[in-house]
Amino acid sequence: MFESTLVRTESDERLARSLTEISGYRDTGRDGWSREVFSDPYRVSRSMVARTMSGAGLEVHRDGAGNIIGRLPGSNPLAPPLVSGSHTDTVDGGGRFDGIVGVMGAIEAARSIRESGSRLTRDLLVVDFLGEESNEFGLSCLGSRSIAGQLDAADLARTNGAGDTLGGRYASFGLDPDEVIRSVWPSARRPHAFVELHIEQGPTLETNKLPLGIVTAITGIERMVATFAGAADHAGTTSMTDRVDAMVAAAEAVLAVRREACGAPNHAVATTTALESASHSTNVVPSRIRMLSEVRSVDGEWLRGVRGRLTREILLKARETGVEVDFDWSTDNDVIPAHRGIQDVMAQAIDASGLPWMALPSGATHDAAHLASIAPMGMLFVPSRGGKSHCPEEWSDLKDISTGVAALAQTLMKLDQLEPTR
Ligand code: GLV
Ligand code: MN
Ligand code: MN
Repeated sequence: MFESTLVRTESDERLARSLTEISGYRDTGRDGWSREVFSDPYRVSRSMVARTMSGAGLEVHRDGAGNIIGRLPGSNPLAPPLVSGSHTDTVDGGGRFDGIVGVMGAIEAARSIRESGSRLTRDLLVVDFLGEESNEFGLSCLGSRSIAGQLDAADLARTNGAGDTLGGRYASFGLDPDEVIRSVWPSARRPHAFVELHIEQGPTLETNKLPLGIVTAITGIERMVATFAGAADHAGTTSMTDRVDAMVAAAEAVLAVRREACGAPNHAVATTTALESASHSTNVVPSRIRMLSEVRSVDGEWLRGVRGRLTREILLKARETGVEVDFDWSTDNDVIPAHRGIQDVMAQAIDASGLPWMALPSGATHDAAHLASIAPMGMLFVPSRGGKSHCPEEWSDLKDISTGVAALAQTLMKLDQLEPTR
């Protein structure tokens, strides 16, 4: 997928090869490079990730939560390890870089450290976290939640639109659901630091013509599942004043969700991603609509008020026409600040290479948001062409990915030498 003229070093060549190879594991019946968690292409691709880790000289094992972990042994096995990684699942219709750059990039960083002849004191663990993207059960970051002890029985009982449970899905993927919950990172082995390399997924670095970004905070996300209950009636014979139309109430709610973000005091975004109607007939007044929305911001105080404000506004409007609404709100993650000390180490590592960078928040969520509860966390961004992501056009230049991998390796080597920074 990369032009061969852009491949400058053996490391570039390996990165290009692994990014291209994994993009071949995709659901050919869907748009883009779809490799959703629990899908067949995803299942098969995990062996390729494990092979790539072994090929880089890492000792590979899979934990009970479905994460793949490659270990570059350090000289002191008792020292808290360094951890880096990301995910290789994609959204439906997604691209070839989101998450994948952070896994293949961390493998390459580990290999470059090993081949440089300088041995780390600490183990370096490269993790491909299971299922980072939000799935049909409305939960993102499955593998990193497990490791952080943030996945519980209530999560396993979550259902999709068809009534299947997340626990059942784990079981049919070959994972024991009880083991998934138990696969918490042992407190005696808490990481020294977690650093995730990722594509920016927005336009800021490209607009500012900068090769690298240091993340200051990861957005918080509030998710809403609202069920609108009206009354089914004949679409041809029920007058406009007599109907209790759940679709119209949901449509008003879609606009309310949008207004919430547009009116926020600081940057915020809000999206309604699905409206599912219980009836498929075109001549029935819709009686039941399930609506999925999310609101994001790094302004934690404002975000905490979203549930109350939107619930009130949506209910008020729906009840004008007799529609009842049931809400199921969840916090996908709170606003998570990146660790100040890790940001400083990344800045020193990049400054030493003479490259420019900027600090910026992340509007996307990441496995790093969950690792932050067990380790000092930092993230490095490389540019995304046109800021596009979660779509087939997603693209990052090999040169930029390679720069990110070098910055990651330098950061890890610097962190290896530091005392714990909690
Ligand atoms: C993950 O990509 C997210 O931000 O939803
Ligand atoms: Mn991602
Ligand atoms: Mn994503």
